Amino acid sequence: MTHLKTEKEAMSAQSPNRMVIHRPPFIIHHFTSLSSTNDQLKAMAAAPEFTCVVADEQTAGRGRRARTWYSAPGDGLYLSILFLPRSDSSPRLPLTGLLAAVAVAETLIERGVAGVDIKWPNDALAGGRKISGVLAEAVSAGPESLRLVLGVGVNLNHRSFPSELSESATSLAIETGERVIVEEFRDRLLEKIAQWYELWRRGASASIIDRWSRLSTYARGKHVVVMIEDEKLTGVTDGLTETGALRLVTDDGAVRTILAGEVTKLRTRADLSLRHSSA
Ligand code: BTN
Repeated sequence: MTHLKTEKEAMSAQSPNRMVIHRPPFIIHHFTSLSSTNDQLKAMAAAPEFTCVVADEQTAGRGRRARTWYSAPGDGLYLSILFLPRSDSSPRLPLTGLLAAVAVAETLIERGVAGVDIKWPNDALAGGRKISGVLAEAVSAGPESLRLVLGVGVNLNHRSFPSELSESATSLAIETGERVIVEEFRDRLLEKIAQWYELWRRGASASIIDRWSRLSTYARGKHVVVMIEDEKLTGVTDGLTETGALRLVTDDGAVRTILAGEVTKLRTRADLSLRHSSA
């Protein structure tokens, strides 16, 4: 159900910087400002499953590979969710990042964003530019369970980006010409994440991989460069394994299974001439 402003909220003000909002199964701790929502949630040691931390701005938002995440006040969704999966599900943990990207892509499409794509593993793109990223961090919580903090950043109302991001980043407002209410986007996204996570919990990995593959042009037949630390591979993508790893047929004919790495689309001659003619 979409969250309307008139909806009666079970909300309690805990401090000027913090509010608690109930959106079953989620309990959302909303902050005006934090260094990083992932760091805040990791510090909430006794928090139950489905605890979320959201902030209007992050002063030290983190991305994958020790990058920063641009977190301008009020413009984006900066959200972290706590899951407590059974420890025997750890081989399937990478699928949680994939399911978050699927939920983001579906929510963006519902909001009228065209050209939505997912770049392996978890980046949502619009028109080839990054609009959302996922930072999944797992911490062991004893022999029986894991604590998984799934951080999701979505560029919503940004009208521009710092110069170093202006070629590579976009936002919902740039793509559609319209602003959204961040809380409405958050609640719809959480509904979708809850649905996909329930499938994941029941072991329906194939449904997640199938949906991811339908939403991603990177799933098959894409000529890409993959950087795995200092190793550079080029090849064509050939689907995902059942735990979400990327199969790559390299240019020398070998088949590699990529568990972690940075994927970039290889520019074709057509892409390059398009760039030159529009420059
Ligand atoms: C990436 O694509 O590099 C991942 C970006 C993840 C950003 C989100 S914003 C909310 C959460 N808190 C953080 O510090 N990072 C994640």
